[in-house]
Amino acid sequence: MILVTHNQHKFLEYEEIFLRSKIELEWYNYEYPELQSDNLKEIVEFSLKHVSRILNRPFFLEDTGLFIDSLGGFPGPYSSYVQEKIGNMGILRLLEGISNRNARFISLIGYFDGKNFYYFDGTLEGSISYSIRGKNGFGYDPIFIPEKYDKTLAEMSIQEKNSISHRRRALDKLLGYIKNSMESIK
Ligand code: IMP
Repeated sequence: MILVTHNQHKFLEYEEIFLRSKIELEWYNYEYPELQSDNLKEIVEFSLKHVSRILNRPFFLEDTGLFIDSLGGFPGPYSSYVQEKIGNMGILRLLEGISNRNARFISLIGYFDGKNFYYFDGTLEGSISYSIRGKNGFGYDPIFIPEKYDKTLAEMSIQEKNSISHRRRALDKLLGYIKNSMESIK
């Protein structure tokens, strides 16, 4: 199975999950153009179309957003841009004095089977911390506390993050789909 991403952290997380499956993961390190849109599916569809023209074989890619309730879902699909411009400190500043810190990560995997496009989503509910905590992970991990936990994703090992993450949940759906479609061919 080919994963297309320019993000090494994402690859390492997927690699750790694939280690426990019988499927081999191949990393195609490529920075594809991303559509600016407020719809994750449109962003993923655009990327799938672009990459499928270059890689003429099955692959998957993924787009993730952090959606903060009290900011009307911001940064959402603009998460990359916001992380780059204001970072985690910027998010904490935007939330100063705000007690509703509920947020969620949503990952959307786009899969190309050589012919058609398929979409699989995964969500992780949680809240935004009051300070930056932890050194593991990447992106918004140091300010995101998953529901039912009292530590941030950046205070978890990759194994622990992968046991609950948005990415893992989306991938489970993709792997379930692939398993089913292989069984129906048999
Ligand atoms: P993209 O999916 O690569 O477009 O990522 C959007 C933004 O969200 C980037 O700034 C990433 O660093 C961040 N991001 C994506 N996945 C995660 C995650 O699992 N934890 C924390 N931040 C993430």
